[in-house]
Amino acid sequence: MIGVLVSGAGSNLQALLDAGLPVGAVASNVPGAPALDRAATAGVPTGVFALEAYPSREARDVAMADWLEARGATLVVCAGYMHLLTPAFLERFPDRVVNVHPALLPAFPGAHAVRDALEAGVSETGATVHLVDEGVDTGRALRRETVPVLPGDTVDTLHARIREVEHRILPEVVGELCDA
Ligand code: GRF
Repeated sequence: MIGVLVSGAGSNLQALLDAGLPVGAVASNVPGAPALDRAATAGVPTGVFALEAYPSREARDVAMADWLEARGATLVVCAGYMHLLTPAFLERFPDRVVNVHPALLPAFPGAHAVRDALEAGVSETGATVHLVDEGVDTGRALRRETVPVLPGDTVDTLHARIREVEHRILPEVVGELCDA
């Protein structure tokens, strides 16, 4: 069963749900994140693990791992989850935490990948699905796909085209990991 971590809109979560993948729990660090509504609509249990509610980041991550494990999660997908995961979380799911990132890693890691690629003036960027380690978008890449930067692109137009790729490659890679 797949546990999904979200912080925002949840379009990648929706892609996983629409692909019929066995999503069994959705956790967010952001109360009220629209992604939680998508999970609820799909009948998937949701949990909120806001940092402010815990004495430390590790304590939050342990609580979140406990909650996911109790629901049977054996694979964790970060789908627009905007916090770093501590070793306290990662050691619970060794090599079983993946993330989708809106750039061709190792280029443009971090929270502003689309803006950074535009500002750098590159002619192409893309999307990467990768394993999560303790670094910022440093884990081993499982799939990378290029997206051209078009004349007149804004962060929004470029990110929209990158998201289209994410919505295809994330369910593909997650499906492969489920089958493995
Ligand atoms: C995606 O572009 C993902 O790569 C990045 O954050 C965005 C999340 O979008 N980490 P959504 O919440 O899945 O719509």
